[in-house]
Amino acid sequence: MKIFRKVKKTQKALPFLGSYIKGKFQKVNKKRLQQKHKSPADFEDLIFYWDEHPCLDLNSLCFSGKKAQRKWSQTPFPERVKKLKKLKPIIKKNIKNWGELISRETGKALWESEGEVKALLLKLDFTLEEALKRIKTQSLPPYGQIRFKSRGLCLVIGPFNFPMHLPFGQILPALLAGNAVIFKASEKAPASAQALTGAFDQIGLESGLYQLVQGGGKISKKLCNQNLIDAIFFTGSFETGDKIKQSLVKDYNKLLALEMGGYNSSLVWDDADLNLAVQECLKACFWTSGQRCSSCSQIILHKKIASEFIKLFLEKAKQLKVNHWSQNPWMGSLIDKKSLQRFFKFQKQIKKAGGQFLLEGKQLYKEKGYYVSPGIYKMAFDKNSLIGTQETFTPQVIIYETRQLKEAVELINHSGFGLSLSVFSKDKKVKEEMFQCSKVGLVYYNLASVGASSYLPFGGVGKSGNDRPAGAFAIDSCVIPMAEKGF
Ligand code: SIN
Repeated sequence: MKIFRKVKKTQKALPFLGSYIKGKFQKVNKKRLQQKHKSPADFEDLIFYWDEHPCLDLNSLCFSGKKAQRKWSQTPFPERVKKLKKLKPIIKKNIKNWGELISRETGKALWESEGEVKALLLKLDFTLEEALKRIKTQSLPPYGQIRFKSRGLCLVIGPFNFPMHLPFGQILPALLAGNAVIFKASEKAPASAQALTGAFDQIGLESGLYQLVQGGGKISKKLCNQNLIDAIFFTGSFETGDKIKQSLVKDYNKLLALEMGGYNSSLVWDDADLNLAVQECLKACFWTSGQRCSSCSQIILHKKIASEFIKLFLEKAKQLKVNHWSQNPWMGSLIDKKSLQRFFKFQKQIKKAGGQFLLEGKQLYKEKGYYVSPGIYKMAFDKNSLIGTQETFTPQVIIYETRQLKEAVELINHSGFGLSLSVFSKDKKVKEEMFQCSKVGLVYYNLASVGASSYLPFGGVGKSGNDRPAGAFAIDSCVIPMAEKGF
C-alpha cells in the first residue's frame, strides 16, 4: 500500500449557514454550533461547526412550500424550464470547488466527486428535455386526454454517498413537474447540501418553493409525518426506509418512493472475457469504497474459470491504491466509524461461517481517517445462512463457485435486495435467463454493476425499493396522471 499523504494546504473551515427556509438561510445562533463536522478522510480537516438538532417550525415551513407551489404549478412549462436552466452556469463554475467539498465531506476520491458534479449537468439537460416529455399532456381523441398534475409538496431525503447528484435527481424533476420541495440532507453531508442550496438560492425561485432542512434522523421522522407533505423520496439504508414505510402504512395521502440500496451480484460465466470481467468487478466492488447502493457484494464464478479469475482479481486488488481523496486513489476513506465497525463485523461473520480469506481487509492510516483496504473472501453457498442478507456498504466481496445457472439465480435472489446485477457472458441465452429469473431492477451485461445512466430508470425491487425507480423515471413519481374527458 502507498503511504498516506497529508493534504499540503490545510483546508479552511466553512461557515455553517443553517437550514434554508422561505428563501433565506436561517441565522444560526453561534452558541448552538457545538458539533464538529470533520472530514472522514482527515480528522484534522474541520469542515464546520454545526447544529444537528435545530428547532424548526416544520408546519410553517410546509405551509410556505404549499403556498409557493400553488403559484409555481400554474407557471407554464417553458418558464419553469427557463428558470431551472439558470442552474447550469452555476454548476459549471463550481465543478472544482464542489468536487473538493464532496471529497472532504465523504472521503471519496476527487476524480469521483468531480464526476458527480459533472453528472449534475447531464441530469439537468436530460430532465429539462427528455424527462419533461413523460409528463406532457397526451390527447386521445375521442376518449379524452391524460394530463399530469403536480403532487404538491415533495420531501426529498438524501444520502451521503452522492450528496448532490442523488437528491438533485429528485429535486429537479419534482420542481419541473410543478411541485415545491423540502430537501432533508444527510446529516453526514450537510456541507454539500448547503453548497447545492446556494445554487437554488441564486436562481431566484419563489420563496418557499425550494427549502433545505439540515439535521439528523429525528427531524426526518417529524417531516415524514407532516400532514402537508404529499410525496416522500427517500434514498438511504433499508433499515431507515423500512421505518419510514411502516410509519406511513395508514397514511393514504402520501406517495412514498424508496431507494434502499442493495446486495448486488456479478455473475462471471465460463465464456466470459476474464480480463474485462476482472476490471469491471474491481470498479463494482471497490469504487467509492463499496459505498454505492449498486456496489457488488458477491461474485459468482463458473467453476471452469474460477481459479483463473481469482488469480487475476487478487493480483489487481492488491495493487489498488487507498489514500486521501486528493492523491488520485482508487479508494478514499469510509464515511464514519460505524461503517468501519460494520466492515470488521462482517469479517467476523465470514470467519465464523468458515469463509476463506483470500485478501484480508485491513484498517489503514488509523490516526488519519476511516480507511480500509479491500476484503475478498470465498465461501460455499448456504441457503440458510444470514450472510448475504445485509448490505455492508463497505469494500468487501464474497466469491462463490458453481456450475449451474439455477444455483447462481438462487444466490442472486438470496439477499432479498434487488437492485443491480452484472452478467459477464457472450451467450444470449445466459443473459436472457438472468434477465428473466433475477429479481433486480438493473441488469448490466459485461459491465460493472455501478455507473448508473441518467438515461435509464434506476431503482430496485424487494428490500432495494418499491417499484418507483429514480433516474430517468424519477419524474413519474412527481405527478398524478389524471384522466380528463367530456366538455
Ligand atoms: C448509487 O446510487 O449509490 C450509485 C449509482 C451507481 O453508480 O450505479
